Amino acid sequence: MTEGIDTIAPPVLAVSDLTVRFPASRDWLGRATSHVHAVNGVSLQVRGGGSLGIVGESGCGKSTLAQAIIGLAPYEKGSVAIDGQDFQASQGRQKRDLRQKMQIVFQDPQSSLDRRLPVWRLISEPLHIRGGHSNAELHAKAAELAAAVGLRPEHLDRLPHEFSGGQRQRIAIARAMSTDPDLMVLDEPTSALDVSVQAQIVNLLLKLQRERGLTYLLISHDVALVRHFCDDVAVMYLGQIVESGPADAVLGNPRHPYTRTLLASAPSFETPLPTLAEVRIGELPNNRKLPTGCFYRERCGKAANGCEAPQDLRRLGDGVRHARCHLAQG
Ligand SMILES: Nc1ncnc2c1ncn2[C@@H]1O[C@H](COP(=O)(O)OP(=O)(O)OP(=O)(O)O)[C@@H](O)[C@H]1O
Ligand code: SF4
Ligand SMILES: [Mg+2]
Repeated sequence: MTEGIDTIAPPVLAVSDLTVRFPASRDWLGRATSHVHAVNGVSLQVRGGGSLGIVGESGCGKSTLAQAIIGLAPYEKGSVAIDGQDFQASQGRQKRDLRQKMQIVFQDPQSSLDRRLPVWRLISEPLHIRGGHSNAELHAKAAELAAAVGLRPEHLDRLPHEFSGGQRQRIAIARAMSTDPDLMVLDEPTSALDVSVQAQIVNLLLKLQRERGLTYLLISHDVALVRHFCDDVAVMYLGQIVESGPADAVLGNPRHPYTRTLLASAPSFETPLPTLAEVRIGELPNNRKLPTGCFYRERCGKAANGCEAPQDLRRLGDGVRHARCHLAQG
């Protein structure tokens, strides 16, 4: 669920006005003289047991948003609340507990798994770090999770290099589940895998969600996957959400000019193609100096009077989605 969409269940994740920038250059005293503006005021919510997809072209800030949410990238403004508790404001044990309620699965399981540890240790590592468990308990938990992700008992004592990419991603998913998280952040979890294996991992994630009531934040280039996988979607452009709402509505009948162009460029995706007048070729603008007015103005073929003003994410007439464009109709 994204900004302003009413929910019945309380959100597992609530992000408000999140802003992340990185130093791009420094003076001789080491002070930042310019910044990369990676995430620019993102608000979103994901209800328990639901799934929100984040789509947008390379460099728009998807991974930075994910990392800020789980506490791996510091943010300078905004807030992240998990189960209603503010992550940044928490301290000590409470912060550690909140941290364990969120886990992330990366695109490349190879680099996220310590190659020297056997599978049972990799899977139970987050519990090992938390402390208070004997080796026998860690092994038993790893065996239960390995079975849940489709690994066999004899796999538990092997090293990660003995597995295929798909199996390594199963190990990474089991590891992420070891602390019984409320929220799983999935950053391009299938894009490094062969096409035939991608569907298996997607089906596994959907099965785990049904069985365990997991809540997902899925980051993906693949709009067809997001439409299949997610209840809701948020489309990102230059660190902002430009359109959000139910995945079927937004991806089936996009209203923001950027969403329309993004979908038209997605391979084999059925969507109303934008007219040529709506599309202007160009690169993602430099995020060291944010544009004034609508961030999409330089590339938008529909730009007109009024677009030089900053655009809010406003609810459209269909009542279910939001778009950051004064010309978008619901
Ligand atoms: N640690 C960092 N230091 C400086 N700039 C960074 C850092 N991490 C990301 N960026 C920049 O922030 C912007 C957003 O990057 P991010 O990786 O979040 O994009 P993305 O949407 O995940 O892209 P992709 O689809 O290629 O994974 C980019 O301009 C990137 O170069
Ligand atoms: S506000 Fe103007 S420039 Fe921005 S997306 Fe809408 S029509 Fe295009
Ligand atoms: Mg990324």
